[in-house]
Amino acid sequence: MMLPFPLPSVAAHFRSTYFRSTFHADSSRTDAEAAVPSASLALPFVDLGRFHTWFDTHRPGAIPLALTRVHTSGCFLRGAEVTAFEAEFATYCGTRNMVCVGNGTDALQLALQAGGAMPGDEVIVPAFTFIATWNAVSLAGCIPVPADVCPDTGTLDLADVRTKLTPRTTAIIPVHLYGRCAAMADLSALAKKRGLLLIEDAAQAHGARYQGKRAGSLAHAAAFSFYPTKNLGALGDGGAIATDDPVFAERARRLANYGALEKHDHELVGGNSRLDEIQAAILREKLTFLEECNAQRRRLAAVYHDALSDFVTAGLLQIPLPNGTAPQREKRKTARNTAGSTPEAEISATTKKNNKDTNGPDTLPAWHLYVVRVANREKIAAALASAGVGTGVHYPCPPHCTPAYAELGWKKGSLPVAERLAQEVLSLPMMPYLEEAEVRRVAETLGQALLAKN
Ligand SMILES: Cc1ncc(COP(=O)(O)O)c(C=O)c1O
Repeated sequence: MMLPFPLPSVAAHFRSTYFRSTFHADSSRTDAEAAVPSASLALPFVDLGRFHTWFDTHRPGAIPLALTRVHTSGCFLRGAEVTAFEAEFATYCGTRNMVCVGNGTDALQLALQAGGAMPGDEVIVPAFTFIATWNAVSLAGCIPVPADVCPDTGTLDLADVRTKLTPRTTAIIPVHLYGRCAAMADLSALAKKRGLLLIEDAAQAHGARYQGKRAGSLAHAAAFSFYPTKNLGALGDGGAIATDDPVFAERARRLANYGALEKHDHELVGGNSRLDEIQAAILREKLTFLEECNAQRRRLAAVYHDALSDFVTAGLLQIPLPNGTAPQREKRKTARNTAGSTPEAEISATTKKNNKDTNGPDTLPAWHLYVVRVANREKIAAALASAGVGTGVHYPCPPHCTPAYAELGWKKGSLPVAERLAQEVLSLPMMPYLEEAEVRRVAETLGQALLAKN
């Protein structure tokens, strides 16, 4: 394969054009995996400073004005900005109610509690997700029960969910991993049949579509995170619970505010988990730009797809399912099974159906992350880092293999797809400020690293 330019020139291009310092609000979710410290990378995995500079060019003055609005209002909690943002985000998601809370983990925990989950209940969660999904279940006093995921999407495998149901199961939390909705139609049917609570973990999926509806409107309730790097991110922590059910919404609202709706009206034992007015004002401005950001993410994903398809055919790489087209598996049947490959035996009928369900023409991922699968991930990531390209790993260790969940007794090997994904996934830069030429260069750099290793 012809290489368009030598590696050093890629690094030089990035360094000269795009070098700037990077804000990492939480290294566990941004660049902890990069072999080279992010500040020295020409193209960091995420650069929130660059994002906000870019945002300012599209919405000039919006952020300073929003800050001034709150500053001069003298109201910092439970005020007009939160009320307005709740209404606007509910309309955007297509739900009747939105309850803003302190962060996405709280949103999941409070949604479980508002939906009636009790301590000791079993809640089915994906074996492959950010650990916060599991933590929220534990914090509600429930027991996270992992079901394995489908290899092509990383979302819940319905067949495995069925095997994990017991008389103590009361809820299922599908995660829309990397911004692609889980196969909600089948999960909803199962939850309905068994009388189970279904809560979307939509922390990575603001604006994602599934069969014509938006994430957040696909279950009894949904939990969002507004962590700064999310598709819709605040300038700090934030979260929200979406639901059509007004009783559910009222319970969630009370649980997040000392059990009260009004002052001294403590009907439930609750806590304190609130979005503040400054974050709500910022989120209102960013919400007006979310569709454009997501459209740009889709364009960038298409560039990655196009630029990486030869490496997929060569069996060196797996890329995410494209959208609205046939799953890549058909194309890969003759490929060498050398790297990041999924044995055909593993592709169950449910997985095939899941792929179809989560990849239809009216189903659009929000492309929160663009995650490929490779063998020798650490070497590939190091090669990218030495060429100035930051990468991430979401996630290197499935929750059941962490010390935090050792006592649940899930042995290594018990959730094989999740465990293999954890070894192979590599997240490439995917932020809406990126230019297509940059993404092409990341893909070329990755291609060179793959060829160098094989
Ligand atoms: C899938 C998933 N669930 C839950 C959360 C928790 O959100 P927060 O960090 O706002 O508590 C996150 C955040 O990264 C996430 O990615």
